[in-house]
Amino acid sequence: MQRTLILLKPDCVQRRLMGRMITRFEEKGLNFVAMKLIRITPELAKQHYAEHVSKGWYPTLESFVTGGPVLAAVVEGLEAIQVVRDMLGATSGLKAAPGTIRGDFSSSQQMNLVHGSDGPDAAKREIALYFKPEELIEDAPTLTKWLRAADE
Ligand code: CDP
Ligand code: MG
Repeated sequence: MQRTLILLKPDCVQRRLMGRMITRFEEKGLNFVAMKLIRITPELAKQHYAEHVSKGWYPTLESFVTGGPVLAAVVEGLEAIQVVRDMLGATSGLKAAPGTIRGDFSSSQQMNLVHGSDGPDAAKREIALYFKPEELIEDAPTLTKWLRAADE
C-alpha cells in the first residue's frame, strides 16, 4: 500500500471541477485518508516546488498556485503513486493522452488541474508539508474486499 499527495490546483477549484476529480480517484478505488481546502503561501510553494524554483517559469507557477484556494488530499491504494501519475497524464494538457485528467480537461502546461507526487520520496516529503500525522485517517475502508483480492 502506498500514500500519495494530490493537490486540486486553483484552476480546478475555480472551474468547479473538484467533485469530478474526486469522483475519478474514488471510482479507481483509491481511499481518501486526508483532505483540506487551503491557500498555498509563497513560502510553501517554494518548498513544494523546490526542484523548480530556479527555472524561468517558476514565478508564474508560484503566482498560479498561490492565486486561489487549493484542495490538498492524501490518497491510499496499491501502487497509488504511479496509479495517480498515470491518471494525471503528461504535464502539459496539450500532450497528455485523452482519457487522462490533464488530457481530458487541460490545454495548458501550467494550468493542468491536479498535482500528484512523482515517487515514494516525494510523496513522503509532500504529505508532511501539507498534513500533520494526526490529520491522516487510519480507518480501513469497508469496501476493500470488493476492490482487490485478499492476497494483492
Ligand atoms: O506536475 P508534473 O510533475 O507533471 O510537472 P513538473 O515538470 O514537475 O512541473 C510542476 C508544475 O509546474 C506542473 O504541473 C505545471 O503546473 C508547472 N509547469 C509550468 O508552469 N511550466 C512549465 N514549463 C512546466 C511545468
Ligand atoms: Mg513533477
